[in-house]
Amino acid sequence: SLPGSAPGPLLGFTPVPPSRDDEVQVPPGYRATPIAAWGEPVGLPGALPPWRGDAGETAREQAAQFGMHHDGLQFIPLDAHGARGLLVINHEYTDDGLLHPGGMQPWTAEKVRKSQAAHGVSIAEVAREGDGGWRLVRPSPLARRITAATPCRLTGPAAGHALLRTAFDPSGRWVAGTLNNCGSSRTPWGTVLVAEENIPFYFDGGPAPDADQRRWGLQPEGFFRWAVHDERFDARRHPNEFHRHGWIVEIDPLDPDAPPAKRTALGRGLHEGAWVATTADGRPVVYLSEDGRFEYLWKFVGRTRIATPAPGQRAAEANRALLDEGTLYVARFDADGRGRWLSLRAGEPPLTAAAGFPDAASVLVRSSQAADALGATPMDRPEWLAIDAARRLVYCSLTNNAERGAPGRPGIDGPNPRARNTMGQVLRWQEDGDFDATGFRWETLLQAGDPANARAEARGDLRGDAFACPDGLFLDPRGVLWIQTDAHASQMHRGEFAGLGNNQMLACDPRTGEVRRFLTGPRGCEITGAALTPDRRTLFVNVQHPGEPDSDRSDPAAPDAVSSWPEHRRGGRPRSATLVIRRTDGGEIGR
Ligand code: FEO
Ligand code: CA
Ligand code: CA
Ligand code: CA
Repeated sequence: SLPGSAPGPLLGFTPVPPSRDDEVQVPPGYRATPIAAWGEPVGLPGALPPWRGDAGETAREQAAQFGMHHDGLQFIPLDAHGARGLLVINHEYTDDGLLHPGGMQPWTAEKVRKSQAAHGVSIAEVAREGDGGWRLVRPSPLARRITAATPCRLTGPAAGHALLRTAFDPSGRWVAGTLNNCGSSRTPWGTVLVAEENIPFYFDGGPAPDADQRRWGLQPEGFFRWAVHDERFDARRHPNEFHRHGWIVEIDPLDPDAPPAKRTALGRGLHEGAWVATTADGRPVVYLSEDGRFEYLWKFVGRTRIATPAPGQRAAEANRALLDEGTLYVARFDADGRGRWLSLRAGEPPLTAAAGFPDAASVLVRSSQAADALGATPMDRPEWLAIDAARRLVYCSLTNNAERGAPGRPGIDGPNPRARNTMGQVLRWQEDGDFDATGFRWETLLQAGDPANARAEARGDLRGDAFACPDGLFLDPRGVLWIQTDAHASQMHRGEFAGLGNNQMLACDPRTGEVRRFLTGPRGCEITGAALTPDRRTLFVNVQHPGEPDSDRSDPAAPDAVSSWPEHRRGGRPRSATLVIRRTDGGEIGR
């Protein structure tokens, strides 16, 4: 087996039991307080529209408030003590039933604009109070909203290519906004990488999508009905607009005027997130996960070393083009516990012009077809990654894949060992040498599932507290692997999920695989995103979509999904929010 971390006990708290309550539960001696809820003003100077509670805000007001469906989360310290900082919060998507009075009836151009304004990223300033709690600093010159309308640069080998040019942008170098921002990470040079995940949901493909659009999951009608009032999302009229999404977006959180940059060298995909390691000679290596059934794991090896900033310059400013040059790989896992990183180079068979890959840009835009041709391993929905730099280990949550082994679908294999995989697993691999190696060894750390389940494939092999559907991962500085879950509301509390409770966050000792439940969320939520302050005494965690889906709020078959968290006002709207988690004795989280 692969090496673990330093000796000594890692998990120092009393576990909490599974919960079906509409509350957040944390261990004795801990407190969790929500801030930065959907609809609070972010703190933009001159624009502080208050939360109304009836969803009556305009699109313009929503663009100055926290968006919906908090996901990836970063803390950027602003002083040496970490008592001031920025929270960088992704807003993955919207529940249009909650976002507007009357939901989607009628569906209007203003509601589309408001939905677009509730997407993207919020950057808000926070400060620690005397009692250890945190407050939003409003207004703040660093506060920022990035939405589905914010101008973003396209950079790297595919920028300006014919596949990225549209009627809105004949240059192929600028795109309005970023969509479905799922996981995030911080880079060693001080920027934040934000992923664009389920992009097909936004586009109408029409009755006859082409082979490329079908491979990428475009449906005749997108789940989000933006195309009805915004022709940019009608893929029949503007097919290349779809190519301008699904990238990793780099944001400089300390420069509100710097446009976000979509880094095409990292490839396009249904990206859950991107996480950076550094080679011994100082080059960035970016690991990328792609959350789709039977999609892939990726690695980008940068060509250039991370630059040291000049006096008076910030590292982010010295590395503005760092991620624009390098080599992209996709993972193949072999049954013998070994694996290979397969390079995607245009012109090298099978990625020839005749096969549809005449140049680097076509490989990066059609990365899924390129990986198919190379024989990459189709995975059980790769979600978050966590990198242990000292041991050159990478952890990956594979959330579930009920279609594994179904007729006409890929069967079980080493890293995806269960048919009808409803429960998910956590995988890890270790590179052969440095992070830019082309070979690795892999093993399964744990398989999730309730040991009481009747079906063998749903039981798992957990030591400690049971859970399902690992999603968010966070490796803390002591070596604890934090695992966050995302079982779907439609499955919770019944069948194979009957005993597992609401979605939750657990701590895992990766040396032993022992798992201990740390937090349970309110009804219908997912727990996602984690950021620890440098003193390790505050943990920020996101609660996404309590009460999901809104249409289930009145469904007597799903009473456990009904939520009015966090305010618990009668008939009030449930709201995604960020939890501030502290120990009442002020000690380190998890110890
Ligand atoms: Fe955005 Fe795969 O979760
Ligand atoms: Ca996720
Ligand atoms: Ca998920
Ligand atoms: Ca979710």
